[in-house]
Amino acid sequence: MISKLLGLPPVRAAAKKTADWVDLQWSYLIEQLVEVAPRMHGKMLDVGCGDCPYEYIFTPYVDSYTGVEREGTFELTTSSARGGGRKPDVLYDGERLPFDDETFDCALSVQVLEHTPDPEPLVREMGRVLKKGGLLVLNAPFSFRLHEEPHDYFRYTPHGLAEMCKRAGLRAELTFPQGRLFRVLGHKLNSFLGFRLARMDGLMQDMGKLGHEGRRASTTRTWLLPVVLPAMLGVSTAARVLDWAAPDPTESLSYLVVAIKL
Ligand SMILES: C[S@@+](CC[C@H](N)C(=O)[O-])C[C@H]1O[C@@H](n2cnc3c(N)ncnc32)[C@H](O)[C@@H]1O
Repeated sequence: MISKLLGLPPVRAAAKKTADWVDLQWSYLIEQLVEVAPRMHGKMLDVGCGDCPYEYIFTPYVDSYTGVEREGTFELTTSSARGGGRKPDVLYDGERLPFDDETFDCALSVQVLEHTPDPEPLVREMGRVLKKGGLLVLNAPFSFRLHEEPHDYFRYTPHGLAEMCKRAGLRAELTFPQGRLFRVLGHKLNSFLGFRLARMDGLMQDMGKLGHEGRRASTTRTWLLPVVLPAMLGVSTAARVLDWAAPDPTESLSYLVVAIKL
């Protein structure tokens, strides 16, 4: 019944908009990408692009947008590999990016470093294909539930990200935290309510979310939704207010770093 309703484009669009706002990690990420996008220009590379969900944010500023993916893991997880959606332009083996040195003016990599067993060589590869003065926007989780298992290997501090950039010939210029203590707590509580209690994973995927996770087979406990949905909305609202009122600089869901190629 709910899946049928979500088949109607206006219902799906409204549900997705609300779900994006409730999702404390996603909403911050989109805000920050919108903020950094005007700094991008020329040829852009999205490393570990998945379904290229952020392409629309950058296309007003860049001349071309190339999405590259690791063939093995992409085929396993991403929804466009299961049919529909924007596919990557290039698939590769996950080791040497199939581009010449200094090919791109800017690059993006969102929630990829935790999914590769060799993150440092991957950042070096991003540095190699960037032109001097080119910008890399790198996003990785600090405190986030296990996802895309078993391909979920690491979590990152802002200092670790800056050090990896340095070793790749890049200098971290800006660091944005994605939420503070209350967003971390709120996100974990909402993940528990939505996924464990109400088993909404499949419903979220019908809505176009969780696209890079394997198809979930669990049946939503629809009888819990009248309680769980308002609770999730309340948790998200409270987390935003509390993070604003009492920010704790030692906590965050993820960090986003903007680094320049030296
Ligand atoms: C959590 S998904 C993120 C996808 C997309 N960036 C997004 O934010 O929707 C992680 C992606 O990283 C890809 N990945 C893992 N190792 C990679 C590597 N060495 N090179 C490129 N992509 C890789 C996986 O195939 C997967 O699609």
